[in-house]
Amino acid sequence: MEKLLGMSLVILWLQLARVNSQVEQNPESLHIQEGENVTMTCSYKTAIDNLQWYRQDSGRGLVLQILIRSNEKEKPNGRLRATLDTSTKSSFLFITASQAADTATYFCALD
Ligand SMILES: *[C@@H]1O[C@H](CO)[C@@H](O)[C@H](O)[C@H]1NC(C)=O
Repeated sequence: MEKLLGMSLVILWLQLARVNSQVEQNPESLHIQEGENVTMTCSYKTAIDNLQWYRQDSGRGLVLQILIRSNEKEKPNGRLRATLDTSTKSSFLFITASQAADTATYFCALD
């Protein structure tokens, strides 16, 4: 009999939209299995110089994961990768083969 060892992984994803109507993040929370790929979206309304993706572990500060400038389309950081499309004013954060250690709250921020 096959045994399922999949560990559940929770990636929380808070909406900055509540504090800043210029930014929307989707989805609000993700519950995925280890090994799955994750996609998170950030949409914005203003002109930007750069967009940052942060992670926050409970009780800790924000830690910058990726900073992508308005003239860049894509930026990798290990298993993480961010894309930016300034025409649709949206950015995706991808996590490849998620691990339990990826469990965190992810934020995007604009400058
Ligand atoms: C996850 O993403 C990687 C890299 O893009 C891809 O090779 C792999 O097939 C994807 N896995 C799943 C389960 O979609």
